[in-house]
Amino acid sequence: MITRETIDEVKNRIDIVDVISDFVSLKKSGQNYKALSPFNNEKSPSFFVVPSKGIFKDFSSGKGGDAFTFVMEHEKLSYAEAIRYLAKKYGVEIKEDRTQSESKEEQSERESLYILMNFAKEYYKNALLQVEEGRSIGLSYFRERGFNDRTIEKFELGYALEGWENFSKEAIAKGYNKDLLEKTGLVVKKDDGSSYDRFRGRVIFPVHNLAGKVIAFGARMLGKEKNQPKYINSPETDIYHKSDVLYGLYQAKNAIRQNDVCYLVEGYTDVISMHQADVENVVASSGTALTENQIKLIRRFTENITVLFDGDAAGIKAALRGIDMILKGGLNVRVLLFPDNDDPDSFSRKVGTTEFQKYLKEHTQDFVSFKANLFAKEAAGDPIKKAESIKEIVSSIAVIPDPIKRSVYIQETSHLLKISEPVLLSELNKILIQERRKTDKDKSREPDAQETPIPVEDIEPQVKVDAQSLVHYQERETIRLLLNYADQSVEQSKLTDFLVHELEDVEFNNPIFKDIYEKFKTAASSNQPIDSHYFLHEGNDAVKAAVSDLITPRYDTSPHWSDKYHIYIPKEKDVLNEMALSNVLRLKFRVVQKMMEDNLQKVKQAESSGNWEELDRALEMQTGLKKAESELAGSLGIVVAK
Ligand code: GTP
Ligand code: MN
Repeated sequence: MITRETIDEVKNRIDIVDVISDFVSLKKSGQNYKALSPFNNEKSPSFFVVPSKGIFKDFSSGKGGDAFTFVMEHEKLSYAEAIRYLAKKYGVEIKEDRTQSESKEEQSERESLYILMNFAKEYYKNALLQVEEGRSIGLSYFRERGFNDRTIEKFELGYALEGWENFSKEAIAKGYNKDLLEKTGLVVKKDDGSSYDRFRGRVIFPVHNLAGKVIAFGARMLGKEKNQPKYINSPETDIYHKSDVLYGLYQAKNAIRQNDVCYLVEGYTDVISMHQADVENVVASSGTALTENQIKLIRRFTENITVLFDGDAAGIKAALRGIDMILKGGLNVRVLLFPDNDDPDSFSRKVGTTEFQKYLKEHTQDFVSFKANLFAKEAAGDPIKKAESIKEIVSSIAVIPDPIKRSVYIQETSHLLKISEPVLLSELNKILIQERRKTDKDKSREPDAQETPIPVEDIEPQVKVDAQSLVHYQERETIRLLLNYADQSVEQSKLTDFLVHELEDVEFNNPIFKDIYEKFKTAASSNQPIDSHYFLHEGNDAVKAAVSDLITPRYDTSPHWSDKYHIYIPKEKDVLNEMALSNVLRLKFRVVQKMMEDNLQKVKQAESSGNWEELDRALEMQTGLKKAESELAGSLGIVVAK
């Protein structure tokens, strides 16, 4: 048992802000501090620290207490482990009460796992630095990779000797029992009851938790033996959950906070080489795909992640997947690709510290430019590919939870790709509505006010978006353009003429819109142009109401957008060409979809009544419509389900 005096001594030295800052990025708020809850995923901070009272309170999870409680909750430690941890942090010598001293078996299991992992780490370190085999094989390998003594110590690198039982024998001699050896995964049990060391003849990379305790190992082979994986890692244990851990975070956390950005790389050696190049704010997902929990972990220290990958196909693929995960987690993401065949490790060694840091500075791109450049090569001169690449970018923007950020990125995309914002926004809103419909179906999820699409575009009805209402929406948009910009020029003719020509074979559904459209059509053919005033004077009440609605500027609903966030919203007049064009395509697209929906009813009827002739006709019709739909979708950059 740890003595009363030791506990009091630790208590006296504790500074709760200092303790919690090792795990959470605190922001000062008056006398107190606040942060996003480390226990829950939340968007606005509800985690408070009150230094004057030495306590914390987390309103989202209900947890609260003193520094001991925090460390216990956060690191899942027992009371005794928390005291040991804090004693070490504040340099308090731990005195134990011998009469009540616990045996190794009596200590909590987790605590024993930590102790054994620590023993193993020391064992592998010793083998690397003191044992002849370790020095000549392991240490010289690290030297070859350019790792210096400081680095080797900082990451507590080690070496596992050749041979099946070196480690097991040593651990058993030191009093650790066999069951525990297996539970750490350091020893593997065979069916016949015998067992052997998992790591043999490999260099060892310990994986630390946020408190600096070793919870797992990665072990790299040295030679080029075939049929052997390059890395062997610890299995999942009670103290190691792969998807909740980032390699290097313990060594990086202060630098991440200071620089307010975290570099994300692929592997152990990338992290270590970057430290050697004096870039310490770096972590690795260690070869596995990035997880939501890993992103939450980074979020405690910064909101900014830069993903570093090699420029080969696999690297780019991983980068793309990572980007969306990070955006979804509400963080800002940037990307940096290295030249083909180089990863951060090889590149930093090739060019040296100064050049490497310069490269980081100069080649970091935000994800929009990254994706744009990536697809630009393919898309050059191919409108369909270009539409696809726009969709790619917008679909990434759509996963961002914060509408303000979404809007800023849309603006950026608009500038970069020279596509009008309304076009991008309607694409974005479409995705958001699709997502919304998906999540609405999932009743376990509460609708989230923050996820409302940006109210810039008059969006499609949200209740039940059927073909009919989509057609309605697009008809309305056509009429709106006509009423507002009838005599503006588009594609070298007047907007009215352009639309009338393009929509020749389209029949309006809505009687009011149809009425208005026919008047424009007649006026165009008789060369006596009309505009909104005509309808306000001549129309019936329904027409007047519709017209006045449609000529009211649409951005008036949220003037604060442009003022408050300095968001540039292009004037419709400037982008009329694209709007008119995409509107024509969209209206046709919607009409075709509506026809397909109606025709499908015919198919069903014919089927159930056994009218095979009719069925044949309807099916042929459906095929033709489907083809038209795909063509229109291609021009619009919409992916249609097959
Ligand atoms: P070189 O670049 O060839 O010197 O090797 P490296 O040690 O830098 O590893 P590499 O670049 O091939 O791989 C990057 C990361 O992917 C490693 O740090 C590991 O996390 C992971 N990785 C690579 N090979 C394996 C493997 O065989 N098994 C597992 N589990 N992970 C691996
Ligand atoms: Mn590598």
